[in-house]
Amino acid sequence: MIIAQITDLHVVARGRLCYGEIPTNAQLAEAVAHINSLAPQPDVVIASGDLVDHGREEEYEALHQILAKLTPPVLVIPGNHDRREALLKVFADQRYLPRVEAPFIHYAIEDYPIRLVGLDTSVPEHHYGMMCEERLRWLDETLTAQPDRPTMIFMHHPPFRTGVNWMDASGLHGGRRMEEIVARHHNVIRVVAGHIHRPIHVAWGGTIASTAPSTCHQGAARPCGW
Ligand SMILES: [Fe+2]
Ligand SMILES: [Fe+2]
Repeated sequence: MIIAQITDLHVVARGRLCYGEIPTNAQLAEAVAHINSLAPQPDVVIASGDLVDHGREEEYEALHQILAKLTPPVLVIPGNHDRREALLKVFADQRYLPRVEAPFIHYAIEDYPIRLVGLDTSVPEHHYGMMCEERLRWLDETLTAQPDRPTMIFMHHPPFRTGVNWMDASGLHGGRRMEEIVARHHNVIRVVAGHIHRPIHVAWGGTIASTAPSTCHQGAARPCGW
């Protein structure tokens, strides 16, 4: 099975530039064209949050249009720049996503040899992420339900300290407790994230955890959450 990850797309409304200077929509379109040119093709693409830059409906409409050109199916989860309600409203045709009133955008995809668990770490109006009691319980129950299938978890905020201090300041709360849960489930083969716009791989929770670079900018040091 081949899984492609794209992350931190930061799409803006059609005709706009991100921060007035970065052509994030065109950069995502390039990434989509590249994925479509791969042989063999990925079985699935995961988009691990910061799908758009301001969480606005017109941004999700632009995103929907660009992602519709992907040949493989795509799975999306929110990041700190996303807004659940606008995302679920515009992506209502994506049947794996919960309904618009759902408190979190969590799901498990059972269609592939590797089970894919999407986690929603976002906290409205904040750049940091959260694995609260409810989310930790959901994760533990979801992993317990299928103890023998190889499983990959994907999320926006990395659950480990990255060493990029100004980004760790907008990192994940509850990562240690999540690590304890993942360590008890030996079938978790990977945990992948985004948020810091650069690649890191670490040994974590008895498995390998990583972040991937953004499809747009790679994060000059700015004192705000990416
Ligand atoms: Fe982020
Ligand atoms: Fe980002």
